[in-house]
Amino acid sequence: VEQSYIMIKPDGVQRGLVGEIISRFEKKGFLLKGLKLFQCPKELAQEHYKDLSERPFFPKLIEYITSGPVVCMAWEGAGVVASARKLIGATNPLQAEPGTIRGDLAVQTGRNVVHGSDSADNGKREIALWFKEGELAQWESVHTPWLIE
Ligand code: GTP
Ligand code: MG
Repeated sequence: VEQSYIMIKPDGVQRGLVGEIISRFEKKGFLLKGLKLFQCPKELAQEHYKDLSERPFFPKLIEYITSGPVVCMAWEGAGVVASARKLIGATNPLQAEPGTIRGDLAVQTGRNVVHGSDSADNGKREIALWFKEGELAQWESVHTPWLIE
């Protein structure tokens, strides 16, 4: 089954948005497989965002992601990667639609409160990067028959 790595960035934690953000994925109907509050080491942030390492904002991005604890999550469900990107909204919160997390809760690209994997392959890669073996739960929700026909 498809999984997406979703992460509440340090601004989301500091601003007290953890419950609100988790709630949006819960209410949508995805299955929470992993969850932890975590102080990200610099090396991990660099590895996670390695595709952006040549960009001028990269040092600021690493400083941002390591500036306080993040909430790491693994969410599962058919189509979760693309759907989570829609729930999150555009990278620049000023361009993100109202109703999306960034559209409702943020104003600047450099403080856009949440990360979501951009492909199923990256979902796998990122969950393996941020979670250790045994940290993901094996469970099924009683809601499933009411979500999927
Ligand atoms: P993520 O879900 O965090 O990966 O965001 P994204 O997929 O919407 O955007 P992208 O992967 O292109 O960039 C990763 C993150 O780098 C963004 O979410 C921003 O936090 C940051 N970022 C991207 N572009 C800029 C920029 O021009 N300036 C600054 N300061 N940060 C940027
Ligand atoms: Mg991205």
